[in-house]
Amino acid sequence: MHVIHRIAELREALGTGPRPAFVPTMGNLHEGHLALVRQARASGRPVVASIFVNRLQFAPHEDFDRYPRTLPRDSELLAGAGCDFVFAPDEAEMYPAPQAYKVAPPAALGDILEGHFRPGFFTGVCTVVMKLFQIVQPGLALFGKKDYQQLRVIEGMVRDFAMPIEVHGGETVRADDGLALSSRNGYLSASERGEALMLRRQLLAVVEAVRADPGRSTAAEQAAMQALQAQGWQPDYVAVRRRSDLLAPQGDEARVVLAAAKLGHTRLIDNLEF
Ligand code: PAF
Repeated sequence: MHVIHRIAELREALGTGPRPAFVPTMGNLHEGHLALVRQARASGRPVVASIFVNRLQFAPHEDFDRYPRTLPRDSELLAGAGCDFVFAPDEAEMYPAPQAYKVAPPAALGDILEGHFRPGFFTGVCTVVMKLFQIVQPGLALFGKKDYQQLRVIEGMVRDFAMPIEVHGGETVRADDGLALSSRNGYLSASERGEALMLRRQLLAVVEAVRADPGRSTAAEQAAMQALQAQGWQPDYVAVRRRSDLLAPQGDEARVVLAAAKLGHTRLIDNLEF
């Protein structure tokens, strides 16, 4: 496996070979990322993973500075999962000048849920992913369903710009007790780590309530928000949406319930398709 820091070097290494399978990450990898790399490997294409903590998708008060940078450990894990190339540019390589051109998703998808509570987040994500796609030129790109809205936003971008890239959503990988793996779980104290299970429990409660009575979505969302608040969480949203575009379900379309809530200083997100 080659660890490459420069755009020109990566382009040269990939040459005119087959378009690779690509797993973009911000590093501090866990089993969820590695599962995507294994799926990329199974495609038979060369596998590229990127590690870049993208300043553009962090608000000034968020955790850009303290986001863990763990390249040596990440590289070992990626090699073990079958990655061929790690692209790990520094900021000067990715943004030699302030990034003036940006890619913004439509408000109907980009300004709801995560985008409502993190204004500009998806513009930061789309801009860096578009740039990474230009650099890597993948034929297949893999994203985790844990970041469900991000997956939908990227799918939309690829469709709207007619990019010849297949986008694959990998299932959320969970710890044995059900907590969705996340690079940010490392911020949790031991007691918060136990309490963190509450988020998924509330999602399961919403699924159960809505399955029993689809008309009870709003009540179930509110009950989950209240239960989280009662346990000292600060929930941003618990929302039942249709999977296709994350708007409110109109009938019996396939659904997903999504939630974001702060536990202490750590903001967690999770979702369940149902
Ligand atoms: O999901 C992430 O880790 C990031 O949002 C991504 C897609 C690598 C873009 O920086």
